Formats: sequence, structure tokens, C-alpha cells
Amino acid sequence: MDQKTMEILKGLKGRSLMAPFDFSVEELDALFCLGDDIIDHPEKYAAICSNKILATLFYEPSTRTRLSFETAMCRLGGKVIGFADPKASSVSKGETIGDTARIIGGYADIMAMRHFVEGAQKAAAMSCSIPVINAGDGGHQHPTQTLADLMTIHRLKGHFDNLTIGMCGDLKYGRTVHSLLMAMSRYENVKFVFVAPDELKMPQHLIEELGDSISFVETKSMEEAMPQLDVLYMTRVQQERFDDKEQYERLKDSYILDKEKMALAKEDMMVLHPLPRVNEIEFDVDEDPRALYFDQAIYGMYVRMALIVALLGLEPGVTTWEKTKRLPIEIHPEAKAVPCTNPKCVTNNDRAVKPLARPTEDGHWACEYCDTVMK
Ligand code: NCD
Repeated sequence: MDQKTMEILKGLKGRSLMAPFDFSVEELDALFCLGDDIIDHPEKYAAICSNKILATLFYEPSTRTRLSFETAMCRLGGKVIGFADPKASSVSKGETIGDTARIIGGYADIMAMRHFVEGAQKAAAMSCSIPVINAGDGGHQHPTQTLADLMTIHRLKGHFDNLTIGMCGDLKYGRTVHSLLMAMSRYENVKFVFVAPDELKMPQHLIEELGDSISFVETKSMEEAMPQLDVLYMTRVQQERFDDKEQYERLKDSYILDKEKMALAKEDMMVLHPLPRVNEIEFDVDEDPRALYFDQAIYGMYVRMALIVALLGLEPGVTTWEKTKRLPIEIHPEAKAVPCTNPKCVTNNDRAVKPLARPTEDGHWACEYCDTVMK
């Protein structure tokens, strides 16, 4: 790694990761560079976290995200504490997110949290003294899945510019596509093709927020989209976020990727999927060399290794006993106590978290926790 990359990485020390825009494009590039170095020289990093502890607080089911974080920490020589089922923690006795985070912050050096409530991680970060990583908050954001997605594109395509990216399936509730869209909006000449039924379209507030920085078309036809795409990002219909179970049953098999549809695609198109898959990719597509979702999960582990090293501000061969202190979470200077209208927002689900909203350019208020725009 060159000197400039190392300097940029130093700037990540003590930061938290809530959403894709928390890191600049330059910082992301540096992180992928560190990820490359970890892949190429694992021995350099094998003991870098030898005196560090990662806490994984998972209030929602997870296989890849939690275990890849835990494996990442083990591969860095660190230790892991945490829970995968909130029923086994004091949450079940009515403890607030802030109190839990404050306590864990005293035990561990860094925390990865997944929660069904939107903005929970921000509330956690504001209550504790260590860097916090959002490992998925309700239908809102999933920035480390985006790191996994981008690391895969970086390794296997080598560039982010000039790509046409299809996002297919549940674009409404799928937090991974929300984060990926934001992250990819910052590269040159990227086009998006949104393939979704009317009920599961990309949220309007996100499209408005990104404005001119994204160029997109919407279609209901996968067949129409396939030939244009450099990347096809498939998603699962998010059963757990539906209030209306009949609607889920009706929509769950809206799009199924099969060999016939793959035959319409470019020879070097990448198929990505955050996983788990339910029905949306037929098993025989796995044999196609363009099916890269299992590789994507592995790159996710490496980029999480890079993230832990960077947020803790560690360098190979240097042992620090001092705890990395969390830097302040940015809050809009004109933020006010405007109540959030999203029933799934942390301000409506945790009695210790007070409403906080920032003014938007068009005269509305947007929640500082879940980004819902109050209209
Ligand atoms: C995703 C998630 O949790 O949002 N899974 C993951 O982290 N790899 C996608 C999903 O659950 O559909």
C-alpha cells in the first residue's frame, strides 16, 4: 500500500459506519486497497487484533453478516463476544438500546449491530464510546453488505465507472439495494435498471434524495433488462417486512432468474445476490461462471477485516493497548425535535431516544435516525 492510501486509512480511525455516505469515494478506495493487501498477505494481519474484542449484537437473524464479522475478527487474531438472539440478553427485560450499547462499549473495542428498528445503530453509537458498525437496520441501510458488493466488483471487474446495474426483486424493503444505490451513485456514468413489481419499487424518497446523481429506468420485465446489464443484483422478497402476508404470497415469486434468462445476458455480466436466496435464483444457475454470489460472501469477510483494522486505526506489527475512542456522530447543526412519522423508526420504538430531524432543501424535515422525510 502506498503512503497516500495509508494516510487516508488513518482518517477512518474511531469513525462509525451507519450508511454508505459516511465514507468518501477516496476512503472506500483505500479500504478496498487494504482488503487487497489482506487477501495477498494474510500473515501480516494475523495478529493485528490480538488484544482487541469485537462485540456482535444481533437482534435479527443472520448467517453471513454475523459469521463473516466474527470470522474476520478471528482471522485478525482478535476475540468476539455477543449474542445472536436478543431473547438471551437483557433486551428481553426491557433494556434500552442505549443502555445495552453503553455497557458493551465498556467491554469491547468495536461493535457490529443488526436491528429490526431503523436507526437503532445511530442511537447505540451516540450512547457508547467505541466505533459502531451498522450490520443492517430494518429496511433502511446495510452498508457493510455494500462493502462486500463493491469489493466483489473491484476484484472481478476492476472498476466502478461506466456500469449498467440491474436491481431486481424487492427494491422497497431490501436494505441492501438502498445502500448499494447510494454508494454507486457517486461513480461516473453508472446507469441503473430497476426491475420490480409496482408494490416493491425503489422508494421515492431515496430517488428524490439522490436526484441528478442517478440515471435510471424502471421496468417490470427481466427479459428486457438482461441484455443491457453489466451487473445483475438479485434480491429476496423480504417476507419479514410485510404487514400484509397475502401480499407477500402474491409477490414472492415475481422474478426468478433461470438459465433461459441468463442466455439473454452479456458474457461477462456478474450476478450478485446478498443471500440468503429463497426462490429467486434457480439452483442450476450456480454452475454459470457469471454467478458470483458465493464469491461475494467471501469478499465480504475480507472487506470486513479491512473495516475493523481501519476503524480501530491499527497497523501491522504495532500493538496498541489504548482503546480506540469513537469520534462524534455527525448531526445536522439545525436538527430539531420534529417527531418521525415512520412507525419502524428507533424514535418510535425506544423510550430513551428522542426525535431529531434535519431540514431538507425543499422545506421538509428528515429524520436523523431513519431518513424518513416528513411531508
Ligand atoms: C441481507 C440482509 O440481511 O439484508 N442479507 C445479508 O446480510 N447478506 C439480504 C436479505 O436478508 O435478503
